[in-house]
Amino acid sequence: MNIIKYYILVLAGLLIISCKTNNENDLALNDIKTSKTLSIEDKVDALLAKMTLEEKIGQMNQYNGFWDVTGPVPKDGDQAKKYDHLRKGYVGSMLNVRGVKDVKAVQKIAVEETRLGIPLIIGFDVIHGYETLTPIPLAESASWDLEAIKNSAEMAAKESSAAGINWTFAPMVDISRDARWGRVMEGAGEDTYLGSKIAVARVNGFQGEDLSAHHSIAACAKHFAAYGFAESGRDYNTADVGTSTLNNIILPPFKAAKEANVRTFMNSFNELNGIPATGDKYLQRDILKGQWGFDGFVVSDWGSITEMIAHGHAKDGKHAAEIAANAGSDMDMESYLYVEELAGLVKEGKVDEKLIDDAARRILRVKFELGLFDDPYKYLDEAREKEVIGSQEIHDAALDMAKKSIVLLKNENNLLPLKKEGQKIALIGALAADKTSPLGSWRIAAKDNTAVSVLEGLNQYTGNTVTYTKGADVSIGKEEFAFEIKVNTTDKSGFSKAIQTAKQADVVVMVLGEHGFMSGEGRSRTDLGLPGVQQELLEAVYKVNKNIVLVLNNGRPLTITWADKNIPAIVEAWQLGTQSGHAIAQVLYGDYNPSGKLPMTFPRNVGQVPIYYNYKNTGRPVLPGEDVVFWSHFQDEKNDPLYVFGHGLSYTSFDYSNLKVDNTFSNNNTVTVSVDLTNSGKVKGKEVVQLYIRDLYASVTRPVKELKGFELVELEPGETKKIQLTLTKDELGFFNNQGEFIVEDGDFEVYIGGSSKTTLQDKFTL
Ligand code: BGC
Repeated sequence: MNIIKYYILVLAGLLIISCKTNNENDLALNDIKTSKTLSIEDKVDALLAKMTLEEKIGQMNQYNGFWDVTGPVPKDGDQAKKYDHLRKGYVGSMLNVRGVKDVKAVQKIAVEETRLGIPLIIGFDVIHGYETLTPIPLAESASWDLEAIKNSAEMAAKESSAAGINWTFAPMVDISRDARWGRVMEGAGEDTYLGSKIAVARVNGFQGEDLSAHHSIAACAKHFAAYGFAESGRDYNTADVGTSTLNNIILPPFKAAKEANVRTFMNSFNELNGIPATGDKYLQRDILKGQWGFDGFVVSDWGSITEMIAHGHAKDGKHAAEIAANAGSDMDMESYLYVEELAGLVKEGKVDEKLIDDAARRILRVKFELGLFDDPYKYLDEAREKEVIGSQEIHDAALDMAKKSIVLLKNENNLLPLKKEGQKIALIGALAADKTSPLGSWRIAAKDNTAVSVLEGLNQYTGNTVTYTKGADVSIGKEEFAFEIKVNTTDKSGFSKAIQTAKQADVVVMVLGEHGFMSGEGRSRTDLGLPGVQQELLEAVYKVNKNIVLVLNNGRPLTITWADKNIPAIVEAWQLGTQSGHAIAQVLYGDYNPSGKLPMTFPRNVGQVPIYYNYKNTGRPVLPGEDVVFWSHFQDEKNDPLYVFGHGLSYTSFDYSNLKVDNTFSNNNTVTVSVDLTNSGKVKGKEVVQLYIRDLYASVTRPVKELKGFELVELEPGETKKIQLTLTKDELGFFNNQGEFIVEDGDFEVYIGGSSKTTLQDKFTL
């Protein structure tokens, strides 16, 4: 063999070996991604072993959508950088990219152009529906119907997943006692027990039985933690809460979501006791990932890593990234800091690479669980998108949920339900004809003017004549992402027509309240009355016709004290989503008997806020009949609210009797409470039977009442049913100030009834 031949052979050999090695690598990568035999944990480990530090950090980086649908042309420098990062595999997730076409475009780059082809997880705020909207979460919570709430989340998952989304930033499980806070609309209200049950229902609805099914999406418990306790209800404001409130009120719904296997958490904008939640190691590493053993991942809130600079906690962006990563924030939403700073911080020894591995592992785990590695395009089926979005099934579910969310606050002389024939109805209020406001403010994928208005709903009933006039505006100005809703405070030019119309009517239906854009993120209020001139309009109409049904549209409790005193019928209809008008009309006409109960206390006056049913007694509680100065009260207002937590009427009536308490706690850790519930009215109806306890004395004081059980019961007229609810140590115990859950011996009162005001009472001793 001559020397040239020899070299050719050696070269060929080397080529073969190198090709083989490359193939083996490729094969191995594909094997890892799609293996039917390896466990998810093995796959994650094997994949991690192939990743560079920068690629692992890339998984921790989330960008807001930047894709230009007309082509992959980034619009400015920043976009170009994001695009470049995407192609390098330095982006693990995107949010606000939606629709099969757009999601496919970004997913294709991640899967086909990056070195390892790791798919993106696509996040979106599917808060109460996607394009078809269900009621705002606060309204859904008023149903106390866990099955319906779960179904509503399931439908939202179905519709959004058909648009390519596989991760929702919901449920928001923040407890709040402050109606000034605009985001109360997004939560389950003021109560920890109800909030925990709803958190579980919503997580189960979004995530389904099988997270890898193409119609289920990963859920996100947010905002960890204490965001709902922002001082004075001003959004993003400081929260300063004690150990007892943190452990007993704020954390349990998050824990419940974790137990339901929620796959992600989002931290919060606020600082808690001096530390921004995003940089709080105690919350994220010690409690969530440590004590609770959470194995999903934590995403920061939008830009909240950078915001630690403004909070006065981080010196600069690099410092903020260091604090957040060390504290356990796994993914950076829109601070651009992890991708810029983390590799350097690891090299300098300021962030341990093991923590990067841990964060990337958590994110990859969820991607594997979603089945994204088996088929990154599984959510991207154009035919399904067409078929599912806006389908009849989803609209039916939205209507069902909307009806169940309505609360009948007052119904004097049975003004409701309305007669179906021969009535002249005056319909008044700008919101009565509004087809956008019922969609609320979390409605990024919904089109304007797509909700059924009350006017349209009432017009379905042809036996009466409906005359509509606006009376007064609620809002003026641009509504598309209207961060500035301008409330009309002066224009009363529509009053005289409204008064004329009301004069000629048998019944006046007035739809008043807040525009959908007046609650939600960044929309705190100091005045909880009817905005603008609506209160004046109500009083002006009342002067000429007292037969008024007030339908409230709002995203939070309002101080409608005058209305409660004067208006005979009041219906709380929140922002009910796409099917709003149909649901309201069916309730007004009695085709649906309302059964909602308030998940949040309605104050008489904004000065009472924060106000909630499970307050502490104080050392100077009100003594009935005593009219002295030195007790815990206001000089100018009552202590008690306008409408209590759990309040809600029906077109029938319910009687409670025969309350029995069976205390077998010392034998089998159970106290059983039973009561007979009778439908004493003339129509079929549903009642939420509510069980409250009071632990009379404890090493850490307990509230005057605590919800510890409920059941939604439907009864025919005249029917009686025995309802049995059980209390175990989970309901009877509490967290002490060392963070231990304890059950103490002592005396307890038990209350059962149709609201937190119930006085039907018994007691037992542990
Ligand atoms: C909100 C989050 C939301 C995120 C993404 C933030 O401003 O606080 O709740 O999920 O934006 O849209």
